[in-house]
Amino acid sequence: MKGLILSGGKGTRLRPLTYTGAKQLVPVANKPVLFYAIESLVAAGITEIGIVVGDTKDQIIAAVGDGAKFGASVCYIQQDAPRGLAHGVKIARHFIGNDRFVLFLGDNFLREGIGRFVDRFRSGEANAQILLYHVPDPQNFGVAELDGDRVVRLVEKPKTPPSDLALVGIYFFDQTVFQAVEAIRPSFRGELEITDAIQWLVDAGLRVDAEILTTPWIDTGKMEDMLEANRLVLETLEGGVEGEVDETSRLVGKVIVAPGARIVNSHLRGPVIVGENTEIVNSFIGPFSAIDHDCRIANSEIEHSIVLEHAVIENFPTRIEDSLIGRFAEVRHAQAKPVATRLLLGDHSRVGVP
Ligand code: G1P
Repeated sequence: MKGLILSGGKGTRLRPLTYTGAKQLVPVANKPVLFYAIESLVAAGITEIGIVVGDTKDQIIAAVGDGAKFGASVCYIQQDAPRGLAHGVKIARHFIGNDRFVLFLGDNFLREGIGRFVDRFRSGEANAQILLYHVPDPQNFGVAELDGDRVVRLVEKPKTPPSDLALVGIYFFDQTVFQAVEAIRPSFRGELEITDAIQWLVDAGLRVDAEILTTPWIDTGKMEDMLEANRLVLETLEGGVEGEVDETSRLVGKVIVAPGARIVNSHLRGPVIVGENTEIVNSFIGPFSAIDHDCRIANSEIEHSIVLEHAVIENFPTRIEDSLIGRFAEVRHAQAKPVATRLLLGDHSRVGVP
């Protein structure tokens, strides 16, 4: 079997971070969310991987390379514009050849991995296999209607959802999907929907198996979802200190301090991860925080947040929580008079003051 990862798209729900970066490269526990997808394919024995890329192609290639560091062989397929997930499949036909494959959306995160589902599809007779997950807001996803465990109907972003079962962005297909993606027409949002392609398979009388997931799945499209994925991964990490921690600092619970990081007179309450060459001075870092490499946090408190590389937080007067702070961002207490809040924010930034 082969793996096909879709890593294009605009990432509008993660602006402003996605003005400058690919949404699939936003880190979860200091590692791009896309890497978890690659690692779960490799862990399931799938090492021939194609990645469909769009505008952010150069960044994705720079981050993933030829796949050798994952034990995989990765090639890239260019999509000229975001024309839909089924369009991504269509242009990958040459790469897939005569194989069966897993289609994995590069911003989807499944904690338990996909080994069990790959085994089931590999040894079974189904033409396609989908995964479903109970969600509180099914109108934001593709939604499935089942009759027992048989798939009856699939609709993309329905106004009146027929169930609360969202289509997880990890799909398993055989060659019949190529007939489907040729047959379907663009949807209301002008895209070739994979949901419509699967409906075509159902209508053609082909076998589409469905399984309802019982372990966490996250589509990391929005900040809140990134924070949740971050929380899930941090929970499972083992602590380990490779950087420097001075004797006045206190580390409680699972805390990872990467090589070259420096913790001075600070209190870190795990689970927390601190990236390489990051400096934390006179600060408190609370549970479920991931501070990426080359950051500086001084005289500040932060908890349940993701801080991207090279960000600086200094002398901030209140505790920062539930936040996502972008690369090279600077957050500090303004010393200058008159006393005022001074902001330089990118489009679509969000600030919440107490
Ligand atoms: C896409 C699919 C949708 C699926 C979702 C999972 O939505 O179209 O059916 O439920 O991924 O992440 P999109 O992220 O394009 O809005």
